[in-house]
Formats: sequence, C-alpha cells, structure tokens
Amino acid sequence: MSTVYEATVTAPVNIAVIKYWGKRDSALILPTNSSLSVTLSQDHLSTRTTIRASPEFTTDRLWLNGVEEDIAASKRLVNSITTARKLRKALELRQQNDGIATVPLSQWRIHVCSENNFPTAAGLASSASGYAALVSALGTLYKLPQTTSELSRVARVGSGSACRSMFGGFVAWQAGVADDGNDSLAVQVASREHWPELQALILVASDKKKAISSTAGMQTTVETSALFAERVRTVVPQRMEDMKAAIAARDFPRFAEITMRDSNQFHAVCLDTYPPISYMNDTSRAIAGLVHAFNASRGRVAAAYTYDAGPNAVIYALSTDMRDLVELVTYCFPREECVLPEAFYPDPFSVFASPDQAGLHLSDPAVVKLAETIGKFPAGSVRRIIHTEVGDGPRVLPASQSLLNDAGMPKRARE
Ligand code: DP6
Repeated sequence: MSTVYEATVTAPVNIAVIKYWGKRDSALILPTNSSLSVTLSQDHLSTRTTIRASPEFTTDRLWLNGVEEDIAASKRLVNSITTARKLRKALELRQQNDGIATVPLSQWRIHVCSENNFPTAAGLASSASGYAALVSALGTLYKLPQTTSELSRVARVGSGSACRSMFGGFVAWQAGVADDGNDSLAVQVASREHWPELQALILVASDKKKAISSTAGMQTTVETSALFAERVRTVVPQRMEDMKAAIAARDFPRFAEITMRDSNQFHAVCLDTYPPISYMNDTSRAIAGLVHAFNASRGRVAAAYTYDAGPNAVIYALSTDMRDLVELVTYCFPREECVLPEAFYPDPFSVFASPDQAGLHLSDPAVVKLAETIGKFPAGSVRRIIHTEVGDGPRVLPASQSLLNDAGMPKRARE
C-alpha cells in the first residue's frame, strides 16, 4: 500500500476579553489594536479537520460539515492555503539543497474535510476554530518547521481572531507595526494549567435577525467612529498590560472588570459607528444586568460577561461561583419546554440536557432571594447554555480519527 500523506487535528474556539475590532490592512488582516483571549475547552467546542495531499487529486477540494464548498470563491481560504504551500516549498528546496530526499507535497492538490462538534444552530462563530484547524493540519501534514506563533500568521490571513486559536490558555494577538504583517502574531500569555479554576458559561440568546458580519462592521467603525480612535490610541494599550498582570496574578476581580469594560466599550464603539451597529439584544442586556446583580449580592466581582458580534453572552467565573451562577441563570431564563421539542437540544454539553444538572434547584438562600428579585424572563430567551472551561491548543489526532475514506473523500457527506 502506498503512503498516505494526511493529517487530522482539532482546534479550539477562543473568546476575547480585550476585543479585536478594526483593521489597518484588510488584505493581510492586520489589526488596529492588540487583543487577548481565553481558549475554551475542545471537549465542548472544536473543529476537526483532515487534510490529505495526493498526486492523484486533480483540484483542491473542501467539505465543511459534510457540504462541499468552493475554495476558489474564498480569498481567505486561498490565502491561507497558498501561504502554507509556500512555507512547504521553501522547506522542500532546503531539503533538496542538503541532499535530503523530499516528497513534493507543495505541488500536490489537497482534500480538506472539516466538521464542528457544535451545531451551527448553537449560533457560535466557527471561523476561528476553523482556520486554526486548517493551518494546524497543513503545518502537521507539511511538517513545517515554523513555531506556533509563526504559523498563527497563516491562520490570521484566514480570519483575524483565528490566530489566537493556535494556542491554549490565555493568548495575546500582538498587533505589530510591520507593513508585511510579520510581527502581527499570537503569543501565549499563560497556559491553561496556570488558571484551571476559570470557567465559562455560554448563553445562546435567540436572535432572528442576521447581524452585520464582523468583517463589514469593523470596517465601517474604522471609517466613521471618533470614539474608536481613542480606544485604539489609549484605552487598549493600557488594558492589554492590566489584563496580562491580572492573569499572571490570577486576580479574578481585576480580570473580570477589564473584561466587562472592554466588551462594553466595543459595543459602545459599534453604536458610535455611522450608521450604528447594535449586536446586543434585550436578552443580552438582561444577562449583563443579572451578572452585575450577582456581583452586588456577593459583595465582590464574581462573574464577568462579554459579547462578540452577536447577542450571545459568555460569562467567565471561577469554579467556586459557577454552580450558583448556573442555578441563577437557569431560573431566570427558563427553557422553552412546551414549544420546542426535546430534539431541539440534542447536544450533550448543554446544561439543560445534562443529567447531573437536571434536578437544579436554588440551594443558596442569597441566590434564591436574588433570583426572586430578578424574576423570570420569557421562556426561550436563552436557547442553550454551554458550560465549559479554559482549554488547550490544537491537537493532532491519530489516523484512525480521519474524516476521509481510502479514496480521500469524506466519510460522512451530506447531499
Ligand atoms: C468581535 O476574526 O471574525 O469576535 O478578521 O474579518 O475574520 P475577520 O474578523 P473576526 O472578528 C472577530 C471580532 C470579535 C472580537 C474578537 O474576537 O477579538
């Protein structure tokens, strides 16, 4: 049997605590400011990607969640794949010069098969984990000698936030100053093991409207918002330093306050965009209010919300506070039981569906009082709750986990 040149990896989702919003170069995806994120566990949210290179393939092909997509139609996909191929080509040339036998993988077409372990219906963006998985798989397949930070530049040209998903734990994307983007890359600020008590609760808020994409929204912000210029010039540089110090010291109240303030400012800058952009809805705002009420009842900052370019909330809290928070959230945002069938929540990681959370009751009298004061929001305002934690970076899987069959076609394809 001839050798199969293939790699399968998984890559995580990340949620920024200092937001990336704005590009100084749209083609290379160079940001106007540095950003910092927390990588979430791949046990709950990840993209798995298999890439095979073969001299028998006639064209590059890609299947996303079982559906074939046109690679050539996406400049970003083409950019990422071409950049990785160039790195492989350089390696092959070096090997040839050194008299080392080399396989001409850079010349062969590839088949890419990619699947998310979370349903699209969860309303969570998957471009970060998707591009990080693509680049990790290419890096593994091509045996690229570049460091993870160097490879994060290749993920960055696919989608900015994807460069941060190349690492686990706490990750900074350094904006850089170079015109060619050489210094615009991700670095790990701290590993997952540094602060394993940090957990995240994702609240998927239903939203019928289609939001303005991050890519389009941030471009309009750069062009029209006066507040944005101030954010980039003074606020973010200081916050990056403060956030790194908070993480180094595992200072949750400090981490949490910066997280909430930065999310608030990001959404303020969106409202200052002309025409204004508004991503948060009534449920998002109610969740922010609930978090502040929770913190007030504890007499300390015990939880922090953050929102990206959509209404979903991510709440960070330490494990010691998480149970009370989950109880409070599930009381105040009841599930829409009568209307939606059970099959609507097929995922095992939703706390609604998880058996050990099924018998939730308000156990702490202070939480009971708080829940009664806040009251119940309309059932179904929060469609899904995902309880997860800080996670590791991309993982290389064994060949048995491949998404491609012997012929190099998806094992599971949808019509
Ligand atoms: C609000 O990375 O999706 O989530 O670079 O155009 O692909 P492109 O944008 P994208 O923007 C993410 C914006 C954000 C904040 C963040 O993740 O830092």
